[in-house]
Amino acid sequence: MENYIIRLETEADHKEVELLVRDSFWNVYRPGCMEHYLIHHLRQDPAFVPELAFVMELDGRIIGQNAFTKAQIIADDGAAVPVLTMGPICIANDLKRRGYGKALLDYSLEKAAALGYGAVCFEGNIGFYGKSGFIVASEKNIHYDGEPREAVVPYFLLKELKPGYLDGIEGVFYQPMAQYANEQAAAEFDKQFPPKEKLKLPGQLAQ
Ligand SMILES: CC(C)(COP(=O)(O)OP(=O)(O)OC[C@H]1O[C@@H](n2cnc3c(N)ncnc32)[C@H](O)[C@@H]1OP(=O)(O)O)[C@@H](O)C(=O)NCCC(=O)NCCS
Repeated sequence: MENYIIRLETEADHKEVELLVRDSFWNVYRPGCMEHYLIHHLRQDPAFVPELAFVMELDGRIIGQNAFTKAQIIADDGAAVPVLTMGPICIANDLKRRGYGKALLDYSLEKAAALGYGAVCFEGNIGFYGKSGFIVASEKNIHYDGEPREAVVPYFLLKELKPGYLDGIEGVFYQPMAQYANEQAAAEFDKQFPPKEKLKLPGQLAQ
């Protein structure tokens, strides 16, 4: 956990980052993955926030990345409340569970707060993100598009970057269109990368 640096991603990093994302997400949530296509496609979307696209570097190698996209909560009174959504975020396979992910996450959230963003909503595991101040969004009356309002969605999380930003607001968070990766386009994109075996594994969300 020494000597790493966190800096903004440059165009020259794109391919290395996509390879890292592919290796890190491969077979985790589904056989294969689409997140390397997602980051590739997100970068071209106006909702993507390049000032918050970070890479973590250790000894000249990119070992982690995190990115943010602008999104909205539509409050019950009709107001659109700007928030961020996050991801993909990942750490290289050989360096997972050593604290790098948390260091990158906390740094990114600090920078997002410094840029004036009020909150981050996204899908993740509370076991990891809870350590950085995320809560299950329903605790703050923020619901997830497509899920019943009364449901506690344990993987739909939020963190206020400005304390009290969501006080008195009840509403629904909508994923920006940019976060939906087209499966066919992702499969086509994947052909640029070295072949890798897709496995059905226990615990994957989609098979
Ligand atoms: C999720 C990920 C970014 C976490 O990075 P990491 O460097 O492995 O995590 P850290 O070592 O910083 O972990 C920080 C804390 O969260 C916990 N944690 C990490 N991953 C966890 C997980 N999947 N489930 C539950 N807790 C987890 C760790 O135990 C650690 O707690 P501790 O300090 O009390 O031991 C990384 O594992 C990864 O790249 N995963 C594959 C891609 C992915 O799933 N990305 C996130 C999509 S939402």
